Amino acid sequence: MATIARAHPNIALIKYWGKQQTAGNIPATPSLSITLDTLTTTTCVDTAALDSFTLNGKRVDDPKIAACLAILREQFDIPPLVISSDNNFPTAAGLASSASGFAALIAAINHHNKLEMTLAQQSAFAREASASAARSIFGGYVGLNQPDWVAKPLLDAEMWPLRVVIAITQERPKKVSSTLGMQRSQKSSPFYPAWIADSEADYLQAEAAVERRDFATLARLAEASCLKMHAVMQSSQPPLIYWRPATLACLERIREMQDAGVEVFFTIDAGPQVKAVCTAEFEVEVTQALAGVAGVLRTLTVGLGRGATIEDT
Ligand code: DP6
Repeated sequence: MATIARAHPNIALIKYWGKQQTAGNIPATPSLSITLDTLTTTTCVDTAALDSFTLNGKRVDDPKIAACLAILREQFDIPPLVISSDNNFPTAAGLASSASGFAALIAAINHHNKLEMTLAQQSAFAREASASAARSIFGGYVGLNQPDWVAKPLLDAEMWPLRVVIAITQERPKKVSSTLGMQRSQKSSPFYPAWIADSEADYLQAEAAVERRDFATLARLAEASCLKMHAVMQSSQPPLIYWRPATLACLERIREMQDAGVEVFFTIDAGPQVKAVCTAEFEVEVTQALAGVAGVLRTLTVGLGRGATIEDT
């Protein structure tokens, strides 16, 4: 019988950008994320005669999926698998579809083949495929840090139910993947060493802010981490400019709301979408404000959700 797993994208508030020069896809910076709820990857896995992978209804040969299966098979005896994965949100548009995708894939394979991995082991395999995926194994507020570079849950979603308004400014896949973008920044940005030097302190302060549920401090740290990462991106050669005019217009609108006392802050990943994190009290106001910004195609408002789960059969 086939196994169905679901996982959700996560959004980093303290960003991962850069890798250590070792095996295992180890980040060069710690990161802290929130796992979302209604955006979902659903992955179905079954035993077959040959491996195959279908994404959103189309057969694809994805070298990252092949590499992920190869790494699992170094440790476990896993027969050929037919895998189909569907996202209910735009793929590869800066909404971390690889994070939910690999988290759902590892959870499904673990269950289907009775591998009996712990969540920490699943997170480690997900990290090897895509480091942000390590965090989507868990729900709520999640940290990914040394020494073991396995994600750990920091606070349940229900303990601090912030909301996220995503302003979509472009629906097509990004031009430069995160993996290639990071390599470029590492090689060429003069700011890269400073970015790495600050990252541990930023992470630890954010972890403490989450523990205290201190919105103002988390807002300051998250915006600073985002802007530092984009400064590294934009100072890479050739430059990585993921923003569009509407991205900046959203930032200005968020600043105006902050000045008027609205509890909201922004973050942006390797794409043009703006994610505005706010308290539930301000969700409607923030959604309406961003929907009204010129160049915003649509908004999605989501809450914080669970880690990877297996569908009951
Ligand atoms: C900007 O996890 O996609 O979203 O490990 O090379 O697959 P790989 O990179 P990926 O990078 C995510 C980068 C980011 C920031 C973050 O999610 O922390």
